[in-house]
Amino acid sequence: MEDLNQRIERHYLKEGLYEDIVERLKDLGVDLENVKRSDLAAVDEFHVRGAAVSRELARSIDLHGLDILDVGCGVGGPSRMLAEEFDCHVTGIDLSHEYIRTARALTRLVKLDSRTRFVVGDAAALPFGDDSFEVVWTQHAQMNIPDKKKFYSGIKRVLKPGGYFLFYDIFKNQDREVQYPMPWASTADQSFLFTPKEMDSILAGLGFKKVSSTSQTQAGIEFFDALVAKMKASGPPKLGLNVTMGASTQTKLMNLLGQMKDGTLALESGVYQKG
Ligand SMILES: C[S@@+](CC[C@H](N)C(=O)[O-])C[C@H]1O[C@@H](n2cnc3c(N)ncnc32)[C@H](O)[C@@H]1O
Repeated sequence: MEDLNQRIERHYLKEGLYEDIVERLKDLGVDLENVKRSDLAAVDEFHVRGAAVSRELARSIDLHGLDILDVGCGVGGPSRMLAEEFDCHVTGIDLSHEYIRTARALTRLVKLDSRTRFVVGDAAALPFGDDSFEVVWTQHAQMNIPDKKKFYSGIKRVLKPGGYFLFYDIFKNQDREVQYPMPWASTADQSFLFTPKEMDSILAGLGFKKVSSTSQTQAGIEFFDALVAKMKASGPPKLGLNVTMGASTQTKLMNLLGQMKDGTLALESGVYQKG
C-alpha cells in the first residue's frame, strides 16, 4: 500500500513535465538556446501570486550572496530567482522525483546550474548536516506535512545560529470543512492545515524569534479574481500552472479562491530568526 508521501507525490505527478514545458515554449516561439527565466515564470512558481510574491519575500531581509535551502522547491522557479537576482547559492529539496528532474533540466535550460542544486528528499527528514544554511525558505509545502513540529525542528537544525527562516504559506483560520481538490491535495487525507497562531507557537517553542509577518490573503484573492476573469475571457494560458495541475486546475483554483473569500483559509508570509 502507498504511504502518505507516495500518495502526495502521485497527487503532484505530471509525467513528462519538462518535455511538455519545452514543447509549449517552442509553440510560443521561444528560442530554446536563449530561454530566459521570465519565459518560465508562469509555470515554475507553484503558489498564489507567482514570481511577484517570491520577490517581495526575498526583499524582506538582505539575502545577497547567502546559502539558502528551499524546502518543497517544486520545479525550482523561486530557487532560480534567488540564485540569479540575489546572487544566492540555493539547494532545493522536494519529494517529487519528476519535479526535481524538471527543476534540474529547466535550470540547465536557463544556464543557472552552477548556482543551484536540486535533491529528492523529505522535508520532514532533511538530509543535511546541522548549521548548514544561512537561510531556509519555504512556500506552500507544509500543508502536505502532518508532523509540523518535526518539520520546523528540522528547519531549525539545518539553519546556522542567527540564520533566517522565510515562509509564505496557506493556513486555515477556523475549523470549517475544506472542499477538495485543492492545488496541494486531491483529498482531505493529503492535507494538514493549521493556523498561523499554531505555527507561531511551535516556532516560539523552538526558540525562533519572530521578525515580521504579513497577511497575504487579500492580495491572493485579487490575484485569483484577475486570473479567473482572464481565463474566462481567453481560456487557459499556453504556459501556466494548468500545465502542472492538469484537467482539474479550474476546480482547484475555484475551491481555493472561494475558501479564501469565505474566511476558511488564509495566506501569510513572514520571517523568523534562529536564536
Ligand atoms: C504547491 S508546490 C510549491 C512548490 C514551490 N515551493 C513553489 O512555490 O513553486 C508544493 C511542493 O511541496 C512538495 N512537498 C510536499 N510534501 C513534501 C515533503 N514531505 N517533502 C518535500 N517536499 C514536499 C511537493 O512535492 C510540491 O513540489
